Order: sequence, then structure tokens, then C-alpha cells
Amino acid sequence: MDGGHLRGADSVYIFAVDKRQPIQGDRRMFFNQIANSIKSRGLFGTLKWGYDGYLKVNNFIVFCRDLAVPVDMRLVKPGIEMKEMSLLELRCLRAQNDRLPVEFYCDETKGFKYCYLAFIDDHPAAIYWLVRPEEKSRFLILRDGDLELNYAVVLPQYRGNRIAESLMGFILNDACSKGFKRIFSVIHVSNIPQYKPMLRLGFLPVECLTHFFVWRPKATLRYLK
Ligand SMILES: CC(C)(COP(=O)(O)OP(=O)(O)OC[C@H]1O[C@@H](n2cnc3c(N)ncnc32)[C@H](O)[C@@H]1OP(=O)(O)O)[C@@H](O)C(=O)NCCC(=O)NCCS
Repeated sequence: MDGGHLRGADSVYIFAVDKRQPIQGDRRMFFNQIANSIKSRGLFGTLKWGYDGYLKVNNFIVFCRDLAVPVDMRLVKPGIEMKEMSLLELRCLRAQNDRLPVEFYCDETKGFKYCYLAFIDDHPAAIYWLVRPEEKSRFLILRDGDLELNYAVVLPQYRGNRIAESLMGFILNDACSKGFKRIFSVIHVSNIPQYKPMLRLGFLPVECLTHFFVWRPKATLRYLK
């Protein structure tokens, strides 16, 4: 550590400069991911998550929806408040709720910037992240006008109340108003609870993907016009 001071108009600012080599980009996010996972899943849960993610064959279905068709927001149940949040707002929320699951940390672990949250009685109930073409998608090569909806969770105590459907509907309409044309989502084949709200919202399956260890191909989307 090194340090010094700066003299402003009527105050002196003491500052410290950390001269240690910063851990860059992907490597820093990898460490953040492990640290967040241990905090949220525990050590055994983190080992299982690593085993499931890399040492098992994982099949995914790629879903797509045209954003030109608006979602009828009468489907939203009363009492759910939804909004897009800035990363600063999300950090404040995390500071007040330190037991939120890993999906609330995708800015630190994946470098994402765009998230939407649902609240029930002022408590965070769900989060979904949007991946834009300039960001790194795990499954897709996104073009201009495309989005990926992913890294979602509804907190266990709020599941089964159609919050996922409401929040995704809100996101779809917001993305359309911002000029995006298509939205994708890639879901593990076993994740029936996530298929159901997506099918109700008009998402269609367009491709299957298989990942194993470092074999992690991206979708070709060859059947999409
Ligand atoms: C997938 C998920 C987001 C769905 O959210 P949700 O708001 O509970 O969705 P819904 O209320 O529409 O329920 C969908 C299905 O979940 C199942 N479900 C119902 N109650 C449930 C409960 N208490 N716990 C778990 N699943 C339940 C039902 O099969 C339900 O289908 P139905 O509406 O036809 O009865 C949520 O289950 C979740 O966070 N899962 C863990 C993380 C995850 O898988 N994220 C998606 C990765 S992309």
C-alpha cells in the first residue's frame, strides 16, 4: 500500500493507493463466483455445483420469443412490485440483505449490468438478468436487437405464485420499448418449473445444446429466420 493527500478548495483528502497487482477480469470474477457460492451454498454445495456443472453431461434447450408481441400485464397478481435496478441500487439492496442467493451477484461473478427485480411487501422476491450483445453469453452469439434472459431465481418462500411469469412479462415489454427485437433463454432440460412460465409467455424451443467439461458449444440458431 502507498498513500498521500490531495488538497481541495477547503479540505484535505487522504487517499491510499493499493499497489498490489489487481486480479484481472475473468479471473477475478471466477474467484468472486467461488466465494459467493461458498457463502450461499456452503463448501459441500459448491463442490456439488462444480461437479454438476463440469463433470456431468448437461443438456439445455434454447428458447426464443419475438418481442413485437406485447405481454398482457393483467396476468400480474396484485402485490408484486417490479422494476429494473441499477447496479448501485442492487449493491445497496445486498448491503441490507446479506443472505441473498448467488443469482443476486451476477454483476460481480459474470460482469452483467442489467437486472430486474420483483418485490413483495418491500422484500426482494426474484431477480432476472438480461445479457446484451456486447456482453459475454455462455450459450449464444447475440446479434444487434437480441437479448438473453438468464440467471434467474425466485426465492424459495415465494415460488409457485407466478412471480417468474410476471417479472419476465414485465422485462419483455420493457425490452420491446427499448427497441430490442428477439429474446432468448437457455434452460436446463430438467428445469420444468422454468419452462412452464416461459411457455405461457409464448417462448418457443429452437435448439438443444449439450455441454460437458470444457466442451461448451454455443447455439447456432440455424433454424431461426
Ligand atoms: C424456475 C423458477 C424461477 C420459477 O419461478 P416461480 O415464480 O415459482 O414460477 P411459477 O409460480 O410460474 O411456478 C412454475 C412451476 O413451479 C412449480 N412450483 C410450484 N410451487 C412451487 C414451489 N413452492 N417450489 C418449487 N416449485 C414450485 C410448479 O410446477 C409450477 O407450475 P404451475 O404453475 O403449472 O403449477 C423458480 O422455481 C426458481 O427460482 N427455481 C430455482 C432457480 C432456477 O431454476 N432458475 C431458472 C434458471 S434459468
